[in-house]
Amino acid sequence: MDKLIIQGNTCLQGEIWASGSKNAALPILAAVLLCQGATTITNLPQLQDVTTSIELLGALGVEVSVNEHHRVEVDARRLSSLTAPYDLVRKMRASILVLGPMLSRWGEANVSFPGGCAIGSRPVDIHLQGLRAMGAKIVIEDGFIRATSSGRLVGCNISMHTVSVGATENLMMAAALAQGTTVLENAAREPEILDLANCLNGWGAQVTGAGTRRVIIEGVESMPGGFHRVMPDRIEIATYLAAAAATRGRVRVTGADPATLTAVLAKFGETGASIDFGEDWIELDTQGRRPLAVNLTTAPYPGFPTDMQAQLTAVNAIADGIGVVTETIFENRLMQVQELRRMGADIVVDGNSARVQGVARLQGAQVMASDLRASASLVIAGMVADGQTCVDEIFHIDRGYECIEEKLHQLGAQIKRIQN
Ligand code: UD1
Repeated sequence: MDKLIIQGNTCLQGEIWASGSKNAALPILAAVLLCQGATTITNLPQLQDVTTSIELLGALGVEVSVNEHHRVEVDARRLSSLTAPYDLVRKMRASILVLGPMLSRWGEANVSFPGGCAIGSRPVDIHLQGLRAMGAKIVIEDGFIRATSSGRLVGCNISMHTVSVGATENLMMAAALAQGTTVLENAAREPEILDLANCLNGWGAQVTGAGTRRVIIEGVESMPGGFHRVMPDRIEIATYLAAAAATRGRVRVTGADPATLTAVLAKFGETGASIDFGEDWIELDTQGRRPLAVNLTTAPYPGFPTDMQAQLTAVNAIADGIGVVTETIFENRLMQVQELRRMGADIVVDGNSARVQGVARLQGAQVMASDLRASASLVIAGMVADGQTCVDEIFHIDRGYECIEEKLHQLGAQIKRIQN
């Protein structure tokens, strides 16, 4: 397994460019299954999860060509298989996103049942309930979700019991080719939902209300396809800003959309850093000051994102004061705490909350990445700590951060990858 070796006591300074959003790219790659013509997607980040999605499309018989400029041309006119195999779903739970579009366009979809993962049990009941309400027959057999539909799915009203990003996306895509109107109530409002809706509309669908609790999809008979540019990755951007806050630095990220980060930028403001932004850039400047500890509770958008919780725990670990971090979305998402403690952090977990008493210094240590965002928090801690930190199992980071060493080098970090 590859490792990252980080020399600490860094102060990050400089400017980097935001990559395309992983969480927008994955549903958009699944949405190509709806289209009768060719689709072109640009600004795709070069990440393991994107590679897995492209492999999955390949396994279904979709023709995909990728050029070096993050541009992908896809032709899903014909499929050779309607099965998303275990090996690919196991690598990436978001593979479940092919279920809705494949069923809606081809009348059948078989997707290996996704298991839980490090951060929680992650059920898919809302996805399945919604598809059943649209007329799909679904059985769970031999570890697979086997969904069929006789004729087109039929639009209906679906009220989701929990706000789910993935279920909102899957059902939006399924409804795009259904007969009649589908109304999704209690829909997720994440910016990636809006990006998917814009993409679907550009490719011939009729979706309104994305970004609100109520999304309305007028089913169309066919979608010709077209072009889409993936939105910037708000979580990647915020991770680099968190690293600047922790290292008493000053970082500007360009190619960003500040409107998607309101709750996070407000929280960075509470750390005492000054935040400045323009139409497509954000800058965080600590003026060399240690951050102040902040309290936060994760919530669906527009609340504070669970995907930034671990990084802010790392900021709190070296902040002035006590910060309480409460995770409400996933049941087991404080995995970074044990590893941060090994670096000298003073953190006590009580249920779904972590009480973080900031310490003046952390010490470099050998630590293990447990999931994507927890890994990012360890890299942040490593850049602040005294001495050397070795982050093991960094395939988690490669799932979600494009060129992380290059970007951090550009900001002055001393970080290198050791390949085993
Ligand atoms: C997406 C993001 C992930 C982010 C998460 C929450 C992608 C590829 N991943 O994951 O980075 O952390 O949103 O913002 O976009 N739930 C159910 N039943 C379901 C589906 C979900 O109970 O059928 C629950 C989950 O267990 C969880 C909550 O709903 O407690 C939110 O999960 P969800 O929004 O679905 O997360 P993902 O779409 O998997």
